[in-house]
Amino acid sequence: MDKKVYELLNDQINKELYSAYLYLDMANFYSAKGLDGFSNWYEIQAKEEQDHALLIYQYLHNNDQPVVLEAIAKPDKTFETLLDPLNAAYEHEQYVTSLINNIYAAAQKVNDYRTVQFLDWFVKEQGEEEKNSSDLITKMELFGDDARSLYMLNSELGARVYSAPSLVLD
Ligand code: FEO
Repeated sequence: MDKKVYELLNDQINKELYSAYLYLDMANFYSAKGLDGFSNWYEIQAKEEQDHALLIYQYLHNNDQPVVLEAIAKPDKTFETLLDPLNAAYEHEQYVTSLINNIYAAAQKVNDYRTVQFLDWFVKEQGEEEKNSSDLITKMELFGDDARSLYMLNSELGARVYSAPSLVLD
């Protein structure tokens, strides 16, 4: 595997685990506010990020590349309003999309079509994650100021259930 592609993939494991940590911090914020539905949403989001990290970990192993695990940074965002984590999550997903695109471009440049194909799933997943996080902001802006509506939104987010990623590596 090309050195640059390898380094970007290995680093992405860390970025995905950081994402999990960031989402767990958001779950933590909402839990302390008594919004268990929001908290559930972000706990599941954190699990999905761990899945993303494991998929890349497994992909590198499958291609005989060494995985080097680095320290995971402390979640460094501060939240005050109920909208803050939602905005931070959307911004973060846009950032992650740029990282995935960057690896994709590096793989394409060296004709590493296996990695390109592997990353296709992540490209699609990022589209979904950006949409989900943006939709949540819209809902919160529409309904969040009204206690009854916030209660219903919290119930809706509480109904989210975890499902394993649709991408399965051998
Ligand atoms: Fe793994 Fe939310 O991107």
